[in-house]
Amino acid sequence: MGFIGSGKIGSAAARLAVGAGHDVVMSNSRGPETLTDLVGELGPRARAGTSLDAAQSGDVVVVTIPLKEYDQVPRDALAGKVVLDTMNYYPERDGQIAALDDESTTTSELLQAHLPDSRVVKVFNNIHFAHLAELPRPAGADDRSAIAIAGDDAAAKATVTGLLDDMGYDAHDLGPLSEGWRTQRDTSAYGQFYFNDPQDLAAGPRQATAATIAQKASEAKRYRDS
Ligand SMILES: NC(=O)c1ccc[n+]([C@@H]2O[C@H](COP(=O)([O-])OP(=O)(O)OC[C@H]3O[C@@H](n4cnc5c(N)ncnc54)[C@H](OP(=O)(O)O)[C@@H]3O)[C@@H](O)[C@H]2O)c1
Repeated sequence: MGFIGSGKIGSAAARLAVGAGHDVVMSNSRGPETLTDLVGELGPRARAGTSLDAAQSGDVVVVTIPLKEYDQVPRDALAGKVVLDTMNYYPERDGQIAALDDESTTTSELLQAHLPDSRVVKVFNNIHFAHLAELPRPAGADDRSAIAIAGDDAAAKATVTGLLDDMGYDAHDLGPLSEGWRTQRDTSAYGQFYFNDPQDLAAGPRQATAATIAQKASEAKRYRDS
């Protein structure tokens, strides 16, 4: 797996991937030499590279950077690949993006439009990185949680569902990328249900099943409808 972005959510996902036996190539904006500590912690299945290296090396590639950087992601190197998108829109960080402000598209559709020859799957965007690290459980466990996915390619979603299973999660399929707005920021499906207490991160996470996510996603409203 390649990781474009090695911050809070990228490194949490990489720990789960390595734990599940996958090799990872980590990258960031500053260069591989700044990732020595992280790849040391991740162990022999991990190495650091450039973003281009991560894009070229991964069979699947996770894009997990500030959304404003999405058009910096290498297009040609990702052609034909499954691309996992964790990104969310925070205008205070990303600047105003008109097509998101007027809800004429969604965050993952922006990335898909930038990567027309890749198969983008939205995943990990609505779970706090600490919860992602704490909630994995073996397949079949009563207290296993699910993670929402969305995408336009069934085979790509099957790949991601398999990866999630390896990492300790069930998947809940929201449908095509255009349905991904349901778990975007500030919707009722934006990860609050993983919190024991949304006001207190130290209270830790709680299980969220596919049924819980489906219920929250069905209740979600677009800004223009709320
Ligand atoms: N934090 C969460 O719990 C969480 C949960 C779900 C989704 N998300 C979303 O996932 C994305 C990543 O969040 P995060 O919290 O992990 O962010 P973060 O901790 O700030 O990490 C961002 C990473 O992206 C790298 N980066 C920035 N620009 C890049 C570029 N042009 N090319 C390659 N790498 C680049 C950064 O590298 P440098 O450090 O070298 O600049 C850093 O490794 C965001 O869109 C966020 O909204 C976050």
